[in-house]
Amino acid sequence: MRLSIIGTGYVGLTTGACFAEVGHHVVCVDNDEAKVRLLRAGGIPIYEPGLEELVHANVAAGRLEFTDSIAEGVEKSDVVFIAVPTPPNPDGSVDLSFIEKVAREIAGAMTSYKIVVDKSTVPVKTGEKVAETIKRYCRAAVEFDVVSNPEFLREGFAVQDLMKPDRIVIGVRSQRPVAAMKEIYAPFNAPIIVTDINSAELIKHASNSFLALKISYINAISILCEATGANVVEVANGMGMDSRIGRRFLDAGLGFGGSCFPKDLSAFIKIAEQLGYDFRLLKEVQRINAEQMDRFVKKISDTLWVLKDKTLGVLGLAFKQNTDDVRNSPAIELCQRLLREGAKLRVHDPKAMEKAKAVLQGVTYVEDMNAVAEGCDALVIATEWEQFKQLDLERARRALTHPIMFDGRNLFDPAEMERAGWIYKSVGR
Ligand code: UGA
Repeated sequence: MRLSIIGTGYVGLTTGACFAEVGHHVVCVDNDEAKVRLLRAGGIPIYEPGLEELVHANVAAGRLEFTDSIAEGVEKSDVVFIAVPTPPNPDGSVDLSFIEKVAREIAGAMTSYKIVVDKSTVPVKTGEKVAETIKRYCRAAVEFDVVSNPEFLREGFAVQDLMKPDRIVIGVRSQRPVAAMKEIYAPFNAPIIVTDINSAELIKHASNSFLALKISYINAISILCEATGANVVEVANGMGMDSRIGRRFLDAGLGFGGSCFPKDLSAFIKIAEQLGYDFRLLKEVQRINAEQMDRFVKKISDTLWVLKDKTLGVLGLAFKQNTDDVRNSPAIELCQRLLREGAKLRVHDPKAMEKAKAVLQGVTYVEDMNAVAEGCDALVIATEWEQFKQLDLERARRALTHPIMFDGRNLFDPAEMERAGWIYKSVGR
């Protein structure tokens, strides 16, 4: 099918590449001319495993193209996806101005029937507003349908999540766009749920909030584990074997970050408030998440006492592994808090150092993860990168003035670390 995707961020670009990979013709649109030039020249503005290969292969096959013109995207497609940012307002509500602007521009460019699909995470009832806006700004005779099709991909695993989704959610006002939407998703062999637009929009916020709740739940359990000498990983494994609970998103640590969970939680609390419901359960999820960081910083200062003029090596800056994204990264927040305490930092991340430099200054960026510990008083693990498990622990132990590690992501085995001579402090173990 002929598709266009407005917005080439993490969601838009990976979705566009995966749609092209399964045979659709895709026009990716972005108003950032420099980004479009970069993409046309074969550059990829974000790090996402497997994405570069996919983009290059599909551009070469003539199924994927880039433009900065919404009108061109609309003209060359039957189904127009909106994947623009929905950033938070200062009060936690969602800034929908990009969605509104794009809806107007799509409307102005439509000359024949189009299906306009919202993929961005939006508050319930946004679809109704998008439909009203398009109706107001399009030519009288042009017909259209608005669809809600929330995205569930995780950064760092976006290609695999898109190619093998757990489910596809399609929210519609009438049956007219359903066949086309099913055709778009047929190659992905996933269960498809067709529902109304409000339910589809709620599925997205309810899912993200539930996953955040799962993480805060296990972080709360980690406090009980520390108080009793129990091991939170064992508890999570035992809980996770119950198929009603499931093991995923039960990893205790520094708490959740990124551009989705913190923002979506605040938004969902605000949406509930506007609908007359005080969603205190989710406020508690936020509180536990903030406290988890406080507890970790305290763990470091309880052990090292005064942090002023101590040097700490920090492994990890991205908000999670497999990404270069540092937006709302717990690792960056941790670094900033340690800097405020007067510590000096030597930091490393496999992919996020360039993006971190824009938000984290006054630290030493170290290219080689095995060199981070040199001259440090302790080592801190802040992001769950798989490759940190390959750290040369013996070299790090010898390089540190004291063999102390604070592991905010539970990457190593406490018993083995102690046998190797480490003072090893992790979360909930
Ligand atoms: C999240 C959802 O998982 C996706 O389904 C959704 O599509 C996306 O938001 C979105 O709304 O766009 P993402 O933010 O990319 O995806 O990353 P996650 O893998 O969910 O991780 C979020 C945060 O939770 C990270 O900081 C991670 O370190 C933390 N986390 C995750 C934990 O602390 N423990 C866990 O067990 C899992």
